[in-house]
Amino acid sequence: MSFIEYGETIKEGDTAIVFLGHESMFPVKVQQGGKTQTKYGVIRHSTDLIGKRFGSKVTCSKGGWVYILHPTPELWTLNLPHRTQILYSTDISFITMMLELKPGSVVCESGTGSGSLSHAIIRTISPTGHLYTVEFHQQRAEKAIEEFREHQVDHLVTVKNQDVCKTGFGVADVADAVFLDIPSPWEAIGHAKSALKREGGRICSFSPCIEQVQRTCLTLEEHDFTEINTVEILLRVYNVRTISLQIPDLGKAAGDNASADLDGGDQSNPDASCANLQQGTMQFKSGRRNGGLPGYLCLLPSLFSCRQC
Ligand SMILES: C[S@@+](CC[C@H](N)C(=O)[O-])C[C@H]1O[C@@H](n2cnc3c(N)ncnc32)[C@H](O)[C@@H]1O
Repeated sequence: MSFIEYGETIKEGDTAIVFLGHESMFPVKVQQGGKTQTKYGVIRHSTDLIGKRFGSKVTCSKGGWVYILHPTPELWTLNLPHRTQILYSTDISFITMMLELKPGSVVCESGTGSGSLSHAIIRTISPTGHLYTVEFHQQRAEKAIEEFREHQVDHLVTVKNQDVCKTGFGVADVADAVFLDIPSPWEAIGHAKSALKREGGRICSFSPCIEQVQRTCLTLEEHDFTEINTVEILLRVYNVRTISLQIPDLGKAAGDNASADLDGGDQSNPDASCANLQQGTMQFKSGRRNGGLPGYLCLLPSLFSCRQC
């Protein structure tokens, strides 16, 4: 298993996603002799996981079952241990596209945080690209290094434990794209420019507050960035379900004239009744899970710029 290529069977050391339902899943590190408790009972790694195919339906000790899924950056984003606020797939997908990331891209990122975006970047730029990610919080940097190793993507990423605003990304003239998710991105714009290739590149900064956006835009202009745009991405998720709509009882005769009434036809009889007309209807209803930051109150602007030298 690796986060950048599919593996058929589950092996010791793999990270697998235990899927109980869309609202209930969690990651496990597969170990010989390991046990994982679920509400359906125990999963025994040696007999229930190792050697089975990813996607298998596994019966737990109490008789209930779960699916064991191959990890992807999107599933990891929904299941990773949070050390910080993270970016979700709605924003990540737009960032990936607007930064023009592709296999072979060289990317600089700060901060690494919980590595949600990092995993998506690594999957996109593999097998020949590289991510330089900077995190000034020592434990977070160490945990990210450990996770990248466990997920077998460490050859595609370099984690630096330093302050990006003071020391930059530790590389010069190599990056196709820079991404910032730090409280004071304007202090890192000069370093981002130095990290980008001389022929130009793309930069994106994610900020929750409009004052941060204003300062970052001004600094981008001062550093001769062009095509500066600020956008917010909102996601609406729909549940598909069947419901019955009760048509109000408008009088007893309406059953006979139902179709005319529905067409807005015969409205002359005040006793008309539509009581029998209950209809099964497929309805698409906005669901709860938004896959984004909790609530929609804060702005989520991102800044994109193309550097022209
Ligand atoms: C919101 S989190 C980033 C989350 C990340 N984008 C993700 O998807 O998981 C911000 C991170 O930036 C780090 N950070 C803040 N200022 C920094 C700086 N000047 N240099 C390096 N890292 C910084 C914080 O320690 C934190 O871990």
